[in-house]
Amino acid sequence: MWDEQSELAALQEIYNLTAGDEAKKNWRKLLVFGNTLDQQLKRKLLWIWPTASDLTKFHQKLDHLGLQTVLSIGCGSGLLEWLISAVGGEKLRICGLERDPNWWRSKYAVRSFIPLNYIENAETIDSRSSLNASFLSDCCSGLMPSALLFCYFNNRRAFLDYLNVFEGIWIILIGPEPGFGIHTDPNPLQPELSNNWWALHALIDWTEHNVVAIYKKLE
Ligand SMILES: C[S@@+](CC[C@H](N)C(=O)[O-])C[C@H]1O[C@@H](n2cnc3c(N)ncnc32)[C@H](O)[C@@H]1O
Repeated sequence: MWDEQSELAALQEIYNLTAGDEAKKNWRKLLVFGNTLDQQLKRKLLWIWPTASDLTKFHQKLDHLGLQTVLSIGCGSGLLEWLISAVGGEKLRICGLERDPNWWRSKYAVRSFIPLNYIENAETIDSRSSLNASFLSDCCSGLMPSALLFCYFNNRRAFLDYLNVFEGIWIILIGPEPGFGIHTDPNPLQPELSNNWWALHALIDWTEHNVVAIYKKLE
């Protein structure tokens, strides 16, 4: 495990590599640097670090499906979203939603790599009743997201709440293959969605036994 000093230096390098719009052109440098990091720090920033080929395949699929506005729920630091938008370029808008603003604004959290929106008091019934389609579009500057993305999400109740209010037809689940030893809920390959409502539309294998599963709402 790294000591605090080396962790701070590595974080600073990541902040440098992601600072400003020009940095997006050099997203591959961030991946190369990511490969040198201690596993614990990697996970603090992002649960699964995709390869350049993973990101390219993902971007091609979004492009093919015409998905231009994606809201990532539980995006954490937003580093994956930063990478996705760097690869996708201007055509793709990817926005993030998190809970617990106090944590993400605290000195203990890593910096956010995209502007974060917050669902206030995510655990209370009151806040769930304020969750609606227009809240989701507010998170994307007034544009209705064409897809919701959940990466390593692990909160079934909230997942179902978001699906209930989402008016689009695409959801993207990123996470480990079942049986790989990491639990997420939903799991991308076993999301326990009603077959009457959602069908698996596309699957992309990612590095380290991870998958991207894209589901489409049935008419
Ligand atoms: C395992 S982390 C994954 C973070 C990030 N997507 C990644 O892949 O690195 C799950 C995230 O979901 C967030 N989360 C849990 N419940 C949520 C809710 N109701 N609304 C929004 N985010 C939530 C947590 O705060 C946490 O950051």
